[in-house]
Amino acid sequence: MDVDDIDDFMVWATDDKVSQYCTWSTYTSKEQAMDFMTNIVAPHPWLRAICLKNRAIGSISVTPFKGNDACRGELGYVLVSKYWGKGIVTRAVKMVVSMIFIEWPHLERLEALVDIENVGSQRVLEKAGFHREGVLRKYIIQKGSIRDMAIFSLLSSEVTQRQS
Ligand SMILES: CC(C)(COP(=O)(O)OP(=O)(O)OC[C@H]1O[C@@H](n2cnc3c(N)ncnc32)[C@H](O)[C@@H]1OP(=O)(O)O)[C@@H](O)C(=O)NCCC(=O)NCCS
Repeated sequence: MDVDDIDDFMVWATDDKVSQYCTWSTYTSKEQAMDFMTNIVAPHPWLRAICLKNRAIGSISVTPFKGNDACRGELGYVLVSKYWGKGIVTRAVKMVVSMIFIEWPHLERLEALVDIENVGSQRVLEKAGFHREGVLRKYIIQKGSIRDMAIFSLLSSEVTQRQS
């Protein structure tokens, strides 16, 4: 994804339904989007657009941890609400899983934290083969409310086993 995708990005970034369970607040201006493109997207080591007919309809990312946590990466994704429920993000997650452990051989674990009420996102991870490890109680403050988060993971060794 890059700055050329800014108009497509605005479609989901300005939608309250999309931001509801995310740490970011709904965007209200193109300047905010430009700031995100410049400061987060451009330097990000692994953030891709989910495309339909050459237009971005969402994004998916793996954010690496540093230092003693460098064996882990955090998965994140978002999709324009009009395309929800068609299996698109599940397919995108499976694609990421099939390549990220090859591209980043040092990665042992891919993880995702999901708001306990974000049932669709938890279902995506289950369908993509992630393990639900438990619930981190009162874990983060999201839009002024303290949230319980479900934690999911998939290990490199589990993907290798599946592919062999
Ligand atoms: C969560 C999100 C990524 C899912 O993308 P998607 O392409 O619609 O997901 P899929 O179609 O691959 O799978 C969704 C699954 O959740 C199920 N689902 C969705 N909402 C549900 C709900 N409220 N209750 C029960 N199941 C639900 C769907 O039925 C489907 O499961 P199924 O195939 O067994 O029927 C999308 O809704 C989104 O972008 N949400 C906003 C951003 C977000 O929450 N990102 C994740 C932050 S952790």
